[in-house]
Amino acid sequence: MSTTRVGVVGCGVISRVYQKVAREFAGLEIVACSDLDPAAAKAFAEADPAGRTRVLELEELLDDPDVDVVLNLTVPLAHWSVTSAALRAGKSVYSEKPLATTREQGAELVRLAGEQGVRLGCAPDTFLGAGLQTCRLAIDDGLIGEPIGAVALLGGHGPEEWHPNPAFFYEAGAGPLFDIGPYYLTATVALLGPIASVSGVARISAEERRVRAGARAGEVLKVATPTHVTGTLELVSGIPVTLLTSFDVWAHHLPRFEIYGTEGSLSVPDPNTFGGPVEAWDATSRKWRPLELVNSYTENSRGLGLADLASARSAGREHRASGSLAFHVLDAMVALLEAAEERSVVRLSSSAGRPAPLRPGLARGEID
Ligand SMILES: NC(=O)c1ccc[n+]([C@@H]2O[C@H](COP(=O)([O-])OP(=O)(O)OC[C@H]3O[C@@H](n4cnc5c(N)ncnc54)[C@H](O)[C@@H]3O)[C@@H](O)[C@H]2O)c1
Repeated sequence: MSTTRVGVVGCGVISRVYQKVAREFAGLEIVACSDLDPAAAKAFAEADPAGRTRVLELEELLDDPDVDVVLNLTVPLAHWSVTSAALRAGKSVYSEKPLATTREQGAELVRLAGEQGVRLGCAPDTFLGAGLQTCRLAIDDGLIGEPIGAVALLGGHGPEEWHPNPAFFYEAGAGPLFDIGPYYLTATVALLGPIASVSGVARISAEERRVRAGARAGEVLKVATPTHVTGTLELVSGIPVTLLTSFDVWAHHLPRFEIYGTEGSLSVPDPNTFGGPVEAWDATSRKWRPLELVNSYTENSRGLGLADLASARSAGREHRASGSLAFHVLDAMVALLEAAEERSVVRLSSSAGRPAPLRPGLARGEID
């Protein structure tokens, strides 16, 4: 397999996880990086043990013939501008989620990638991890019969508890729905298929939040997006999914994600993680039992989707964490806020197929 050379744009908190994971894949090499903050780019390059990461200005990185794929790890409001500039420069792109913050911008990125004949991939890639892949195989093997419903529930109290620069989480295009919702919605589509329509209720519970960690502790943030979002998704298959994403909940006893079937139930792990546990309940034994995880990606493996894209480029096959999947998820999130605003049911015009499952038994560093 040929090596895919990656240029990273955005060298903040999550970039270090990608840097570590990329080193596990023989087909991936990070060769350049760029950031609005030169110190962040310099620190990222210095953290490359092989010393092969060059610090470049954004335009230089996009023009560099040695960069095959731009890895966009900027904040959500910058995703569209960086990704569209990279696609226009003829680069393939793998972006952190969300793909963009508006439906129009997301659609433009998918169209641009098609016009340019390059790849567009997008996080989350947690559905490739051991936990969600185990769930996928359990469903496909009929362990719970035919799925008839699911709940996807995220309740937390916001990233200002731990993130050093949490302002972006409260801007339009972020909030719990756009920040954490992609994990729950992507897992829903990857496990159960595309979404047909959405309805919901959303609110901003507090107009201001206070930074609690790092050098900015004490700073007050204005909240510009709903922080408690509830909804119902109707899947194309007819399955109803109950959704909650909230930054306003201090404590709860809810499951993260459960899928109910005609013959049993599946306890799905946190879709914002790669590992387990996965438990299944069947109507014969009437007991919960743990399922053995089907691959080795149990730790934080952000970058797995990028490795899959790189391998897919070489093999000429489709990559799994695709722009069209991310656009369908973005469409659903936008539609949910529209439905909440209008107190209506919004039908989606986008769709996405379930990405092919990974081969069971993959060791770390393997994707095919
Ligand atoms: N932090 C996490 O745990 C985490 C986990 C999963 C996904 N993500 C996602 O990853 C992305 C980045 O998150 P983060 O926590 O690393 O944020 P961060 O604020 O720590 O880092 C973002 C970096 O991007 C740079 N940047 C912003 N706009 C830019 C632009 N136009 N050009 C070049 N550089 C630019 C900033 O200077 C900063 O260094 C977000 O989309 C977030 O949702 C973060």
